Amino acid sequence: MPKITLISPAGKTVITAKSGALLSELLLSGGSSLEMPCGGKGRCGKCKVRAEGGLSEITAEEIAALRPEEQSAGIRLACCTRLTGDATVWTEASPKAGQIQAVGIAGSFAKKPFFRNYGAAVDIGTTTLAARLYGKEGLVSSAVSFNPQRLFGADVISRIHAAMEGNAEELARCIRKEIARLLTKMAGKARLPVQEIDAMVITGNTAMLHLFAKADPAPLAAAPFQAKELFGKTAEGKDFGLPCHAQAKIYLPRCISAFVGADITTALLASGICDREETALLADIGTNGEMALWHGGRLLCCSTAAGPAFEGAGLSCGMPGVTGAIDQILVKDGKLVVHVIGDVPASGICGSGVVDAAAAIKQLGWMDETGYLRSAEEIILAGEARLTQKDIRMVQLAKSAICAGVQTLLDTAGVEDESLQAFAVAGGFGSYLNLKNAAMIGLYPPKLESKAIVLGNAALSGAVMLLENADLICRSEQIAQCADTVDLSADPVFMEQYVQCMQF
Ligand code: FES
Repeated sequence: MPKITLISPAGKTVITAKSGALLSELLLSGGSSLEMPCGGKGRCGKCKVRAEGGLSEITAEEIAALRPEEQSAGIRLACCTRLTGDATVWTEASPKAGQIQAVGIAGSFAKKPFFRNYGAAVDIGTTTLAARLYGKEGLVSSAVSFNPQRLFGADVISRIHAAMEGNAEELARCIRKEIARLLTKMAGKARLPVQEIDAMVITGNTAMLHLFAKADPAPLAAAPFQAKELFGKTAEGKDFGLPCHAQAKIYLPRCISAFVGADITTALLASGICDREETALLADIGTNGEMALWHGGRLLCCSTAAGPAFEGAGLSCGMPGVTGAIDQILVKDGKLVVHVIGDVPASGICGSGVVDAAAAIKQLGWMDETGYLRSAEEIILAGEARLTQKDIRMVQLAKSAICAGVQTLLDTAGVEDESLQAFAVAGGFGSYLNLKNAAMIGLYPPKLESKAIVLGNAALSGAVMLLENADLICRSEQIAQCADTVDLSADPVFMEQYVQCMQF
């Protein structure tokens, strides 16, 4: 079997691999931070690595995606390159998961644990995974990582299509394997056998739960987009092959609809907005903007496709919030001042940095309100990191989809911006978001800025609440069942707002 030498800033590793294996598969299985927004179709050009040795011939996709100087420097697309003999591959360091949000705010609640000895709460995000382990005395340990399914694409739709094209088994296998790794890691940190974990609550959006549970996701991908499976059920640990107690119970919280998932149900529970009289809106912004408006005892939800721009994917220099990513930008003396995670040279920009960049470019007058860059085709942010006109257009579509979703929910419920009492921002991207800049670029209506509160990973906090008080399971199911979903694709208000919200 060919030998492959992986060289990263962390050191050198030699592994053996099957001849014919794709470099992308080898790198991801080794925990590399390789980004694959197009799902390995050779279209996005984001999976570049430097490689030499026994490798397949350069493909037409690579010739189209790589500049001649990159080709002569041995740069390849990992998703198009197969191993034919011994080879050396230079990779970035494995992602530091430090910026994955595992912390969230939740109100106080009574304790009546769903577990006997130890229980785990897990949030399966499209990009990231976050887990916490609890015992009778409270939090024992936590762990975070990246969703390994990104091999099949950055967004939910690519993953659903991958499952429908025969990869359902592999999608389930890799997410279960990663959750198993997190459980073992958390138990190890707490010096207890993983078999002591006797209960789990695993939340996530509707597609992620389908792919984890190997439920058929096809109904999520075609009109009328009705999920046959909404979960809200308890299974056993062995059903998913997870390392835990032989009789461990695993509860998958109830989803609201095909595109408003159990992560919103648990985030709503954690936010407590459905327990209060006031009118409040909760939004979780990622590749999809999922949102829920509580008004007059009624819960209205919607989901709007923002694309991967706010997850740091799909942009020319987009990357997740890991070492090397620009995560903050401000304007000082007419110049851009950037902050890079890890204080290293910038290699790209993550979601929170993208919002700051657009706000700064607007503030400096370098683009007009239509998003047109006035004097250059691209703006150099720092080092190699730049924002092109095409990137600005992607951000424009994303922010417009989110803002139009918010406006449509408010309009449907007959709520004026002014009468909204709380705007709860949930999710990892929201945690690092500069709310002022987000309002400035029109990611949400500016009047909501003063009402905004950041909840962190509220989906995981809600899952922890279910783990620590089994009585809340019933309450969470009531929340999901009472929600009405607004279908934005058929909503004239949304279409009108989408066009209006396009301006910066
Ligand atoms: S080109 Fe390789 S993942 Fe997109």
